[in-house]
Amino acid sequence: MKTPHDHTEELRHLIEQVNATSISSIGSVVTRIIAVINDPDATAKELVEIILTDPPLAANVLRLVNSAYCAPKNKIADIQQAVIFIGFEALKELALNQKVCEIFKRGVKINGYSREKLWKHSVAVALFCKMIYRKEFAQRGENAYALGLLHDLGIIIRDQFQNEMLLMALQAAAQKNLPLNDAERETCGYDHAHIGMALAENWCLPEEIVFGIGYHHDPRESQDGDTTLSQVLHIANYCCQKNNIGYCDAPLQDPAVFTHCCQALKIEPHAIDLVMGEVQQKISDMEAEGLL
Ligand SMILES: [Fe+2]
Ligand SMILES: [Fe+2]
Repeated sequence: MKTPHDHTEELRHLIEQVNATSISSIGSVVTRIIAVINDPDATAKELVEIILTDPPLAANVLRLVNSAYCAPKNKIADIQQAVIFIGFEALKELALNQKVCEIFKRGVKINGYSREKLWKHSVAVALFCKMIYRKEFAQRGENAYALGLLHDLGIIIRDQFQNEMLLMALQAAAQKNLPLNDAERETCGYDHAHIGMALAENWCLPEEIVFGIGYHHDPRESQDGDTTLSQVLHIANYCCQKNNIGYCDAPLQDPAVFTHCCQALKIEPHAIDLVMGEVQQKISDMEAEGLL
């Protein structure tokens, strides 16, 4: 995606700023976990090594595995036991979840936005993306969960590094009833999808994730060959917003793009309702356990 011309330099500078902070080390662990997810030959041992070299991550993973949400009969004492208990697949997702969560620290609430609400939205979109992808295409969709978690990364980066700009955009969005990305373009020249895409590219994440982030508001604009995952993400984002799960950056979103994506992927409304119900259940289970 082209960044509006005169903002390329500004965006490059922002990415440099982000990478000069602890977000850069979070990014490198996220990149390593996503590489394991994308490698069909990767073993649980590789994932365990990544987790063990990051003690706060290991502690968080153990905390979650020992919570009532996972409900082990006996206490899980180490990461090797965690793999056996919840399985390699689930551990990949859980580790990714815990690591990305570190970027979403506590903050203020403004015009319906807060970091906690954005995090809840991201988790719901990730779950939706993964479930609908697996149901509809009977494939693992390696990057579906990661893309859901990361798609609004640009908002949290703007919140932490361009806070005034985000506040301006949130205000303009509220006053003019605009989706956040349109308000951002009006007030700052480029939106959170540009920022997220630039950062994902800089972290060398898989192209599917880079393009998915860049075009999550309108996958029809994507020049990427296969837009399946971008469209799945758009559907997930639209449905979670419509059902008020977490932060909603476009309360009055035009359903035209959503309808286009559903038709292009031949996804029926009943499949969407089914997945939405499962996501709502999972989210309220996580909330009940204090995990969101
Ligand atoms: Fe967005
Ligand atoms: Fe979103």
